[in-house]
Amino acid sequence: MTILNEIEKKMNTASSALVEDVKHIDGDIIILGVSGKIGYNLAALLMDALNKAGIKNKVYGVARFSDGNQSRDALEAIGVQTLVADFMNDESLKSLPHVKNVIFMVGYKFGSTGNESYTWALNSYLPGRIAETFKDSNIVVFSTGCVYPLVNVKYAAPSEEQMPEAIGEYAQSCLGRERIFEHFSKENKTPMAIYRLNYAIDVRYGVLVEIAKDVYNDRPVDVTMGQVNVIWQPDASEMAIRSLLHTTVPANVINITGPETLSVRWIAERFAERFGKAVTIVGEESENALLSNASKSHELFGYPQTSIREMIDTIATWIELDGSMIDKPTHFQEREGKY
Ligand SMILES: NC(=O)c1ccc[n+]([C@@H]2O[C@H](COP(=O)([O-])OP(=O)(O)OC[C@H]3O[C@@H](n4cnc5c(N)ncnc54)[C@H](OP(=O)(O)O)[C@@H]3O)[C@@H](O)[C@H]2O)c1
Repeated sequence: MTILNEIEKKMNTASSALVEDVKHIDGDIIILGVSGKIGYNLAALLMDALNKAGIKNKVYGVARFSDGNQSRDALEAIGVQTLVADFMNDESLKSLPHVKNVIFMVGYKFGSTGNESYTWALNSYLPGRIAETFKDSNIVVFSTGCVYPLVNVKYAAPSEEQMPEAIGEYAQSCLGRERIFEHFSKENKTPMAIYRLNYAIDVRYGVLVEIAKDVYNDRPVDVTMGQVNVIWQPDASEMAIRSLLHTTVPANVINITGPETLSVRWIAERFAERFGKAVTIVGEESENALLSNASKSHELFGYPQTSIREMIDTIATWIELDGSMIDKPTHFQEREGKY
């Protein structure tokens, strides 16, 4: 097995905590928006955990599969029953199996500036249709840390106790998604968890890959957005599945990210060391950044298993070995909420 295959295999192998938790998830599971950047990893960890636990619950994965059938074939190969549906189409929505557990991962971010009406339709209107369709289920709703404002780095990052204050229409529409799900949780007594993520780190995309590629290709690293929180995607995916056991009425909001506030300059310097390169820093750290405090998730699930130094090392190896990439930049440097 090549080093790249080994990295992938490890990323898609369930932890013992996940194997234990899936034994308590009652019923089948449907993943809505399974063909995106996180979907395969989440589905692979879930299938691995169910297999290891000896549980036969069905897992459905749904999307339009707008990438052709590539992601669909990969999901079918690991035992996910895939279904093609456009959730904005009522007939498609009605045709979905009404299963006990739902993980909702649909969102629209890049291109939202200039396409505001669609952004609101997908991020804020669709949630009402989904909440009504699955009112008898147990729902984990993917959201984003972008619902918080930029905060002064001298003070604490926002935890769930702080009221959101979304900057820009993308973030506002995501807050709309949360509010609409919350409304229907109360109205229909549907147990829900709102999973506020920033930023998932994969070997193929994400904040660390972007900084690493800049350093590797001798491009300057801008540190104006000077601090970030990150979490290894498999740790984040496991927490999403395990959140099915922490849904409540009204909805339970859970911030999901790593425990450290990380300096972008420090991350660039670590990659430079690893690649044996010099790093050129441009800009100066601003006094505020987009951050969140995920201590509640750490209390529920334990600290993420993968440390920041392990993430840096794994990504550096992936880049050195020319591993495949997903060309979808995060725009984590964005300070005005325009995506
Ligand atoms: N990745 C991160 O670091 C991160 C950070 C914060 C929050 N999040 C949130 O986490 C969620 C999942 O992240 P991701 O990165 O995997 O998102 P993504 O790559 O944008 O995936 C979105 C998924 O939704 C599906 N979809 C979109 N419109 C649809 C429609 N009308 N009908 C059916 N399916 C539709 C897409 O598939 P098709 O196009 O094939 O239909 C895709 O499977 C998103 O809501 C995102 O906002 C992610």
